[in-house]
Amino acid sequence: MEVRGLVKSFGEKKALDGISFSVRKGQIMGLLGPNGAGKTTTVRILATLLRPDAGTAKVMGLDVLDEALEVRSLVGYLPERPCLYERLTVEDNLAFYGRLYDVPEGELEARIKEVLEFLGLEGRSGSKVGALSKGLRQRVAIARALLHDPEVLLLDQPTSDLDPASARAIRDLIKGLREQGKTILICTHNLTEAEELCDVVAIINEGHILAVGQPGELMREPGDKYAFELLSIGPIGPYLARAREVEGVIHVEQKGEDRALLVLARREVIADVVRELALSGCRMLEVKLARPSLEDVYLRLVRER
Ligand SMILES: Nc1ncnc2c1ncn2[C@@H]1O[C@H](COP(=O)(O)OP(=O)(O)OP(=O)(O)O)[C@@H](O)[C@H]1O
Ligand SMILES: [Mg+2]
Repeated sequence: MEVRGLVKSFGEKKALDGISFSVRKGQIMGLLGPNGAGKTTTVRILATLLRPDAGTAKVMGLDVLDEALEVRSLVGYLPERPCLYERLTVEDNLAFYGRLYDVPEGELEARIKEVLEFLGLEGRSGSKVGALSKGLRQRVAIARALLHDPEVLLLDQPTSDLDPASARAIRDLIKGLREQGKTILICTHNLTEAEELCDVVAIINEGHILAVGQPGELMREPGDKYAFELLSIGPIGPYLARAREVEGVIHVEQKGEDRALLVLARREVIADVVRELALSGCRMLEVKLARPSLEDVYLRLVRER
C-alpha cells in the first residue's frame, strides 16, 4: 500500500492534512492515534469508500480512484462499526456478502466453511447474529472481510470493546493472517497490541503523521545505548563497584536499596554484568531492559504536537 500526501476535509474540519506512508507486502502496519486523528478516514480512502481531496493512494499498484473496482476485490475491510444483519444467521450473512463480493456461486459454500473454520465459528453457522456475544460477532465481521480471500486487510480497531480473552483470540487470528502472507493495516488505540502485532507503526494525530518506525525502533534509547534495571535479593550497593568495571558499562546508578540502573554500550554487555555480579555473591531477582514503552513515546509525541 502506498499513500502519498492524502488530504481530506469535512467542511471546515481537516481530517487529513497530507498523510504519506507505505506498507510492504506481507507486513502489518499499525495506525496509532487518539480519537479523531484521522485513522478511519485514511482506511476508508484505501477501501475506496471515501474520495480524498488531494493525494494518491495505491493498493498493489492500483489507484483507489481510477481502479476502485479492482482495488475492492483485493481488499478486505473490517469497519469500525461492522454492519451485519442481526436477524440473519451467520451463514446467511456470509452468503449474502459473498455474493456481493462476487465469490462464484459454486465456491461459496466451501469458502464460507473454510472461513468459519479459520475463525473457530463452525458451530455457530446457524446462529442468528443478533444472538451472538460481541466477541463472536466481531469474528463474524472478520469472516465477512475474508470471504473473497483478499490480499490486503484493513482492520479498523479489530479488538476494541472486547474482553482480554476475545481480544487475544483476534490477535492470534491476525497473526495467522500474516502467516498466510496477507498485508495488513490496523487502526488501534491499544499500544500493547501495536507492539505485539505490527512490523511498522505510524503515530498519527490531527491528520498528521508524527512518527513512523518499527515499534522497537521507536522505543529505543537515544544514541544506541541500552538501559537495564537490576533488582537484587538484599542490598545491591556493595556489588555496584564491580559492575562499573565491566567493559561496555557506561553508567551505573543505584536507585534504591535493592535496585540499580545500568546504561550499556551494547545489549550483550548485560550477560557479562550478570556473571560478574553473581560471582561476587550478588543474588539477582530480576534483570530487565528499561526502555520507554510505546505508550511513553506516543504520549510524548502527541503532547509535543
Ligand atoms: N463523515 C464525516 N463528516 C464530518 N466529519 C467527519 C466525518 N468523518 C470523520 N470526520 C471528522 O474527521 C476527523 C477524523 O476522524 P476519523 O474518524 O478519521 O478519526 P479516527 O482517528 O478514526 O478516530 P477514532 O479513534 O475515534 O476512531 C474527526 O474530527 C471527525 O470528526
Ligand atoms: Mg476511527
